[in-house]
Amino acid sequence: MSTVATETAYATVESSYGFRASNQISNRLRTRITAALGYDPVEASAVPEAANIGEGCGNPLLIASLSEVTPRPRFSIRHGGGFDCFLAAKKVGPTGKVTGIDMTEKMVELARRNAASGGYSNVTFCYSRISQLPVDDASIDCVMSNCVLNLVPAAEKQRVFAEIHRVLKPNGYVVVSDFLAYKPLPQEMIDDPALQAGCVSGAVETAVMQKYLQQAGFSDILLMDTNKNLELYKDGEAAKSVTPCCAGGACGGKEQVTASGRKELDYDINEWIGSFQIYALKGKKEDETTVTVEKAAVPIENSRTSCCGCKSGAC
Ligand SMILES: C[S@@+](CC[C@H](N)C(=O)[O-])C[C@H]1O[C@@H](n2cnc3c(N)ncnc32)[C@H](O)[C@@H]1O
Repeated sequence: MSTVATETAYATVESSYGFRASNQISNRLRTRITAALGYDPVEASAVPEAANIGEGCGNPLLIASLSEVTPRPRFSIRHGGGFDCFLAAKKVGPTGKVTGIDMTEKMVELARRNAASGGYSNVTFCYSRISQLPVDDASIDCVMSNCVLNLVPAAEKQRVFAEIHRVLKPNGYVVVSDFLAYKPLPQEMIDDPALQAGCVSGAVETAVMQKYLQQAGFSDILLMDTNKNLELYKDGEAAKSVTPCCAGGACGGKEQVTASGRKELDYDINEWIGSFQIYALKGKKEDETTVTVEKAAVPIENSRTSCCGCKSGAC
């Protein structure tokens, strides 16, 4: 990927998510996405509404095991409107600290407004790309990311994992919710601007994700397929999105015709990508690297077989 292509990819992300920062989804869609991604509705409703932009790939807090017990924990999260940061802030308590990082200025502004309106004193938001974290070496207990790594241009992805490893303390860990590809995506999906901004085109396969993590020095790697039905994102409201990307994340765009002239809904998204929970440890050098790839049992209403036993959920 050339430098120009990399910068173009970053510019596409910034303009798409700048748009999303100023155009909120409805409460109906927000509630639907939040529940489907496995958030506790009571905890979610305690966070400022505008923080939940409905753009997650999953719920990384489910595997983050955050608590006030850890002395002065500090977390770094790619934030969007700040939703996961605020949920994490509650869990780590007043002695903990959460730093949210986003490369879209309007998202940083939105998250800061939400922090002020929600009265959060233990969360700060930074404007930065995650390939260059504005954080000291070995200073963070947990790095959390939700639906961001797929948006990082291919040429920068390995660097992001090296950065995450650099900022983590020994025995610190990274937890990620993201889309991974089940098989190589065809070029027309990779080149489709809607799927690029919609977190699909940049999804890598599990073996590639494993390689990124191992090369960065991580051990105890877990890649868990949540088996969620991603047809959720083809909600009618998301489909009416006026942004070139998609409202609510993955695919949207019912009426949109892609650059290749093909309607987005022609893709059965569940065939190509899955929502994964990823965990990896910054262990000691002598630790043996283990890798586990597994499929989770999920509540029946979220699973792909929920509606009528069909594999893709497209029924
Ligand atoms: C799909 S949204 C997810 C937001 C949030 N994690 C959530 O669950 O609502 C992706 C966010 O990541 C940000 N982003 C994408 N690539 C980034 C990068 N390389 N560095 C920092 N932020 C990035 C975008 O600006 C956007 O706010």
